Amino acid sequence: MKIFLDTANLESIRKFNDMGLLDGITTNPSLMSKEGGNPKDIMEEITKIIKGDVSLEVVSTEYSGMIEEGKRLRQYGKNVVVKVPMTPDGLKACKHLTSEGIPVNVTLIFSPNQALLAAKSGAKYISPFIGRLDDIGKDGMNLIRDIKKIFDNYKDEDDDFKAQILVASIRHPIHVIDAAKIGAHVVTLPPAVLDKMLQHPLTDIGLENFLSDWKKLKAGI
Ligand code: E4P
Repeated sequence: MKIFLDTANLESIRKFNDMGLLDGITTNPSLMSKEGGNPKDIMEEITKIIKGDVSLEVVSTEYSGMIEEGKRLRQYGKNVVVKVPMTPDGLKACKHLTSEGIPVNVTLIFSPNQALLAAKSGAKYISPFIGRLDDIGKDGMNLIRDIKKIFDNYKDEDDDFKAQILVASIRHPIHVIDAAKIGAHVVTLPPAVLDKMLQHPLTDIGLENFLSDWKKLKAGI
């Protein structure tokens, strides 16, 4: 399973990239706005730091605007994936950009039908938002199960779905384990979730004990 970081924060991106953990980045207009500063500089810098796919989102809601913005976003780097919303214009833009060799991530997916249609329109990634479904009392992970089942049903056919399931709106480490058990292709994680995945109290206690035992030897390495 690929791990993407869901942020536009350069410090977090550098921190986890230096540990070799990042296969890509996803951003959205809210995450960009949280960082402040000039979004163009931030987007350019992210595409330089990260070798894998970097999703940058359009803000236009109509087809021609999405195409224009998508092409501009793509100029930030060859690893840019254009993120479009799950709307009729978004799917039309997805088909067009894909036909020109520009990969697309269709975002704001909340149902298996939306996932199926986004995949059909040629998306490289489809982004189902699980945390936001949990927030309204639906089981977000069930959406991932349904999409995986649908895609797997056709995986050996000529008309199979090529899109990768990018699990988005992740809130905690259990979401990550469940997504991996289901076999989702990608998870995109807020930095705080990736931080939590790194930690275990027994690791800290174990390290403390190792170091205090070693000190008793009064020796160097
Ligand atoms: C996906 O690409 C989105 O950026 C993101 O996962 C949305 O998550 P949220 O529901 O925490 O805003």
